[in-house]
Amino acid sequence: MCGIIGFSGREQAAPILLDGLERMEYRGYDSAGIAVRSETKGLQVKKTKGRLRVLSDLTHGGADLEGTLGIGHTRWATHGEPNDINAHPHVSENGQIALVHNGIIENYLEIKEQLQRRGVTFTSDTDSEVVAQLLEYHYNECHNMLEAVGRVLRRIEGSYAFGIICSDFPNALIAARKDSPLILGYGENGNFIASDVTAIIKYTRDVVYMEDGEIAVVTPESIDVFDSEMNPLEKQHSQVDWDVSAAEKGGYAHFMFKEIMEQPEAIAKTVSPRIRDGRVVLDDITLTADYVRDISRIFIIACGSSYHVGMVSKYNWERLLRRPVQVDLASEFRYSDPLVDEKSLVVVISQSGETLDTMAAMREAKRRGARTLAVVNVVGSSIAREADDVLYTWAGPEIAVATTKAYSTQLVLMDLIGLYLADLLGTVEKSEYDAILAEVQVLPEKMSHFLEHFEDVQYFASRYFNHNSIFFIGRNLDYAMGLEGSLKLKEISYIHSEAYASGELKHGTISLIEPGTLVVALGTYAALFDKAMSNVVEVKARGAEVLAVTTETFKEKMEKTADSTIVVPDTHPILQPSLGVVPLQLFAYYVALQRGCDIDKPRNLAKSVTVE
Ligand code: F6R
Repeated sequence: MCGIIGFSGREQAAPILLDGLERMEYRGYDSAGIAVRSETKGLQVKKTKGRLRVLSDLTHGGADLEGTLGIGHTRWATHGEPNDINAHPHVSENGQIALVHNGIIENYLEIKEQLQRRGVTFTSDTDSEVVAQLLEYHYNECHNMLEAVGRVLRRIEGSYAFGIICSDFPNALIAARKDSPLILGYGENGNFIASDVTAIIKYTRDVVYMEDGEIAVVTPESIDVFDSEMNPLEKQHSQVDWDVSAAEKGGYAHFMFKEIMEQPEAIAKTVSPRIRDGRVVLDDITLTADYVRDISRIFIIACGSSYHVGMVSKYNWERLLRRPVQVDLASEFRYSDPLVDEKSLVVVISQSGETLDTMAAMREAKRRGARTLAVVNVVGSSIAREADDVLYTWAGPEIAVATTKAYSTQLVLMDLIGLYLADLLGTVEKSEYDAILAEVQVLPEKMSHFLEHFEDVQYFASRYFNHNSIFFIGRNLDYAMGLEGSLKLKEISYIHSEAYASGELKHGTISLIEPGTLVVALGTYAALFDKAMSNVVEVKARGAEVLAVTTETFKEKMEKTADSTIVVPDTHPILQPSLGVVPLQLFAYYVALQRGCDIDKPRNLAKSVTVE
């Protein structure tokens, strides 16, 4: 989604803003812009459609814009097409006020019409310009910028993170948030606002997370935060412990490849601190055995790949807990009048911790009295802060839009949580418990071993990259894993792809299989391997080309039928998707590479989806 940065300091702002925007490039955007204020030149604004490089060239790396106070934005279009005019910052009619905005203003049309009736002329189609114009209107009334911001916030409905500068307001930028992330950063040569910690991590690790309804005034020397009634607040500081290099490519061609390769280490970081003396220890949460025994329903709620983690977890948790587990897409759950109550445990999974649908679903569950547990990667993110309990995946920053290491760490953490709950309930045999834990601990090593031979997958990708429709089939955990493999492929290579539970093929989809259709057959789930094989035979009989993924145990059997076979190490069945998904990620990566796609920033996609 859109990215925001703002700086008020003792250095030229424009180069810092451009640098911060560049670090948020991975979030995906279609246009970018900056506004800088100086004593002599007033407000100067440059914005343009396209990549950041265009903006950087347009401003000679920021040298053209003089001033130590500024705001910057990368836009992912929601209202109005991506073009120069709709790009942010938006400037009020008399050029006094510039504003950047993330989120959506729901009542913007109504406000726009009122302002138009008062003679205000609009240049863009955006909801954000309406806020800039409304601000000017109130500022002209009260001649106090902070008061004007307060009045605007009371008028608008929707979600927002704002960065605002005003030509009359030297050295100070104003920030406000509601349902869209915004952090404040304390730097040596000035202070920051940003929607994403990666934008400012080069300059500071000392941050404050803004809460909904708060307003901040940022100057080179200080940051003052107020509640919606303008009462001053004391905010708690947090230290960001991410390494700057973690957000850089470090010699890899793409972040996605780097992040695939980082998975063993990320899994080890997520798992190791949570296993002590042969037991899963989840110090950070407060679920007691009595409470867990009393739970009548378990829900797992998420979007996209995180939802696919939920699908795997449903199979695994039901097996471990012997209780029904319902997985829901957050965007559906929130509007489904869900049957959630005080006896429900609602687990939400989100890498970014900012996905609007997931957050809204979690709030709905809380409103109905459920207890919420969040599995999140970004520390201090909104979902992490609002959930009753939070467990972090320690994957480090994930920059590529297509998730890999965050997915893998979510998967393994959900396995640990399942094991922990099963232990509290007494529904898992000790031998099974020990076997899973032993395998979790060697998972990073097994994954590293597989990753040393990624060339096989590269070879298959070069063989199959020109197919334009690909099916993933599998049963049980393999089906859940296929959903993720298919999503990875379509989002970065733009090849049409579908994942099916193998048993469902005969109920319609098999009519699409014709000579030469590529079917990726997943046969890693031992309990149903023979059934999965029958489905491979079925598609082969209709002329499909089959690329199979299986385990060492079933290698020989699979090779007899499939055209090509990728073999992953064996592990405990519950953990098998953690290994099985890796070739699917690599396959998507290499197919996209062969097709010349923009791997880290696929078209139309954004890293953190903060709109509905
Ligand atoms: C796909 C992908 C998305 C996210 C989804 C949810 O590669 O990354 O499908 O999984 O947008 O995002 P989070 O996990 O941040 O809530």
